[in-house]
Amino acid sequence: MRSFGFALRHTVTAMNEATEPAGTEPWWRNAVIYQVYVRSFADSDGDGTGDINGIRSKLPYLAELGVDGLWVNPWYASPLRDGGYDVADYRSIEPIYGTIDDATAMIEEAHELGIRVLVDLVPNHTSSDHKWFIEASAAPIGDRSRDRYIIRDGTGVDGSEPPNNWTSVFGGSAWERLPDGQWYLHLFDTSQPDLNWTNPEVQDEFRDIFRFWLDRGADGFRVDVAHGMAKDMSFPDAEATGSVLSNAKTPNHPYWDRDDLHVYVRQWREVLDAYNDRMMVAEAWVAPDRLHLYLRPDEYHQSFAFDFLQSNWDREELETNVQQTLAATGSVGSVPTWTLSNHDVMRHPTRYGLPNDTKWRTWPLDGPHDLLDAEAGLRRARAGILFMLALPGSVYLYQGEELGLPEVYDLDHDVLDDPVWTLSGNTQKGRDGCRVPIPWERTGPSLGFSSGEGWLPQPDYFADLSAESQKGVPGSTLELYRSALTLRRQHLPSTAEIEWDDSAPGGILGFSRPGGLRCWVNFGPGSVGLPDGADVVLTSESDTGSQLAVDTAAWFV
Ligand code: NOJ
Ligand code: MG
Repeated sequence: MRSFGFALRHTVTAMNEATEPAGTEPWWRNAVIYQVYVRSFADSDGDGTGDINGIRSKLPYLAELGVDGLWVNPWYASPLRDGGYDVADYRSIEPIYGTIDDATAMIEEAHELGIRVLVDLVPNHTSSDHKWFIEASAAPIGDRSRDRYIIRDGTGVDGSEPPNNWTSVFGGSAWERLPDGQWYLHLFDTSQPDLNWTNPEVQDEFRDIFRFWLDRGADGFRVDVAHGMAKDMSFPDAEATGSVLSNAKTPNHPYWDRDDLHVYVRQWREVLDAYNDRMMVAEAWVAPDRLHLYLRPDEYHQSFAFDFLQSNWDREELETNVQQTLAATGSVGSVPTWTLSNHDVMRHPTRYGLPNDTKWRTWPLDGPHDLLDAEAGLRRARAGILFMLALPGSVYLYQGEELGLPEVYDLDHDVLDDPVWTLSGNTQKGRDGCRVPIPWERTGPSLGFSSGEGWLPQPDYFADLSAESQKGVPGSTLELYRSALTLRRQHLPSTAEIEWDDSAPGGILGFSRPGGLRCWVNFGPGSVGLPDGADVVLTSESDTGSQLAVDTAAWFV
């Protein structure tokens, strides 16, 4: 009774039907949402770049996978200097991705399949190609149009030094000089000027942009850099804490996680609440003890538990993190939002194959091949997904993780496109390794991604990881995800209750959920016998017998 398919059929009758009737909780509270990085998902027109019609062609695949919703990365008109997080026009679609009609058709078709759609909104900054920034840069110093951005005089005798020492997340100073000598703030690329959210015109514009997409059927929003919109407008120097996003953990930081930003969140919530059943999720890289602030009843519905993503494959660390997150979210009547990968971080099968404490968040230059145990990484990733999917709350999956794709860390330097590569002075490779086009088929110039070559090359081993290679193959990562999602949808409760299994042997992290499902994850050092009478319904590796091997997980009743 260990193979997925067989175990799955067994489970349907074995488990108690003790979960509450569907529809009593808002849909997002325990939804599984699949992140689509448009550029790398599926290309319909052979230009090597994924597009909206490509997503439309894969909606049946996503429905079969069993996801409840999609988060679509930015698809707006953009010079694509930062993968579309540099928005030139929030109300139109980047032509390389399609048209507004394609976008609305995609939303409708997803809805027909029971899949919700979240749009990615970028309020912290625009592109320097946005009409507001073009106007501001051409305007005289002191003009009202400049006040939509954060533009200041420099320091030093002739103002040739930046206003302060703030640094860009991508490297270098966060200030860039305009031809007339003033400086504008950009917490990310130089082509991403930060907006001035204290300006009511900026606030009004974004309320309207929210309405624009809600009126086109969007079920909600993923909000970019949700922890960065408010700045200390007296512009003090920041303590030198490095350039990574975990800066947000510094108390009273001059631009991360400031209390003033919540005013704007409440404005958006009012807009959303005028519609039915819509939601928003915050991309806020904050410490667990600040998470609840984003989840107050009149603010975000969800906020990613990034400390979980950043945890090592370590029993104590993960347990502590899950408990802290449950406590923080529960304190405001909310639930956790789990994720293990996204388009900004090293894919988790690779992360989990590296020794603990490797500085994986620094987007390493060319390795670290010698430290990597790819096999262990994938085994842990498969165990990790059963762990995450059994927890209370919602889950976000990143495209390709259901195929077990690893980070492509050895891309040639000349194909790199991430601004991190240049802004770090070629010392950090950036995020392209997790954005390599999806392999759909075993053969073809880009393994079914496009009729031609993809915008980034795929390694040869992607052929064996393609959806075609895994579909219907018992024990494949794709079938593991499908089984887990089916079981979760049918049998896990939407309430947040969880009971930790204190009697589980050392090395095991175990818990049970109302309805009877138990989950054990074995972090080692040795195999452990499952409890007497355990009826296994799903395991992360097939044929483990009554023993749970190291780095594997089991669901049982
Ligand atoms: C977070 C996004 O996820 C990332 O891809 C982007 O570069 C920055 N925000 C800037 O928008
Ligand atoms: Mg295309």
